[in-house]
Amino acid sequence: MKVLVTGGAGFIGSNFIRHLFTARPGVEIVNLDKLTYAGNAENLADIEGNPRYRFARGDISDHGTVEQLFALKFDAVVHFAAETHVDRSIEDASPFLQSNILGTHCLLEAARRHPQTRFLLISTDEVYGSAPAGISFTEKSPLDPRSPYAASKAAAEHLVAAYGNTYGLSTVILRCTNNFGPFQFPEKLIPLIVANASEDKPIPVYGDGMQERDWLFVEDFCRAISLALEKAKPGSLYNVSAGATQPNLKIIRTILRHLGKSESLIQHVLDRPGHDRRYALDSSKIRRELGWAPDEVFEEGIRKTIAWYQANREWLAHARSGEYRHYYDRHYTNRSALLGK
Ligand code: NAD
Ligand code: TYD
Repeated sequence: MKVLVTGGAGFIGSNFIRHLFTARPGVEIVNLDKLTYAGNAENLADIEGNPRYRFARGDISDHGTVEQLFALKFDAVVHFAAETHVDRSIEDASPFLQSNILGTHCLLEAARRHPQTRFLLISTDEVYGSAPAGISFTEKSPLDPRSPYAASKAAAEHLVAAYGNTYGLSTVILRCTNNFGPFQFPEKLIPLIVANASEDKPIPVYGDGMQERDWLFVEDFCRAISLALEKAKPGSLYNVSAGATQPNLKIIRTILRHLGKSESLIQHVLDRPGHDRRYALDSSKIRRELGWAPDEVFEEGIRKTIAWYQANREWLAHARSGEYRHYYDRHYTNRSALLGK
């Protein structure tokens, strides 16, 4: 089996490539990644020497690059590449439209000339918008994306579904909840808490910190993707979730407890504009139809994640240098001072 993975130098993509080589040792993988601030070729340093692996640095919205790669005739495309951080999409939506929408379109255009290729889009629970208390969205729930990031992912989904319907492409869409685990870029909540708390720096909590997310350990998501690649019917759509929402403050307290740090590091700051209060998915369809279930309980997943960041301080220092420093200063400086205004 020959697979094109896009965005394989990012968080979930790099975990997935490692997972697929273990689950299917005979697989051939080409990883197309632009190496934005979030991509890091070092994430796959242990895979680099594998003769079945090839890295291609390039942009998914560049038709020439994509056409050239598709000449390799893939059995499947697993499409992760995207701009992924909600806060950055609020600051400037343009790269999100370029990569998430036009980039997806460019891949679909190439895929439709290669009808043997299965096209699997990695999407997000954020396309449903905020879930009322007590409700878990099913695949039939209406889409209501509420951030520029979520809107760009919903647009990508519509394009994928339209290409399936119009050109007969074999498409699959997975909508997953927040992932956590090794190699996650420290702009996202969990690695940000671990990084800041390890240095006794304040943990910025948006608003009251009672927003809820349904965290899934990345290895569990990788298994779901692998199963969908193998078994999902053309045109299918699956929610993927652990099914256990937790408020942000609870996650923060759990991590501080694991690190032996004081809760006095918690600092409430100005809320994210349009902040979705709650994400919650019903994932009974993938459990029933593909036999998937998460393996990792949250406490154990978070213990492994913290241990990974502690053992990979250089990786973290690299990720937090350069562009991240500028982003962090721009985004967080004055946020607590603005709280009362
Ligand atoms: P990430 O930000 O860690 O990595 C994104 C990768 O895509 C990077 O390696 C980056 O260099 C690459 N990329 C970005 N734009 C590109 C372009 N134009 N051309 C080529 N490569 C490009 O992201 P992640 O957290 O691993 O998320 C991967 C996918 O999963 C995304 O599509 C995201 O929407 C989706 N998703 C993520 C989560 C989560 O919790 N992280 C949850 C649900 C869905
Ligand atoms: P994040 O990891 O950015 O994922 P998403 O917004 O895609 O769910 O944020 C997770 C939650 O944590 C979200 O409710 C926003 C909140 N958050 C903070 O309170 N402070 C922070 O510094 C960050 C980055 C996030």
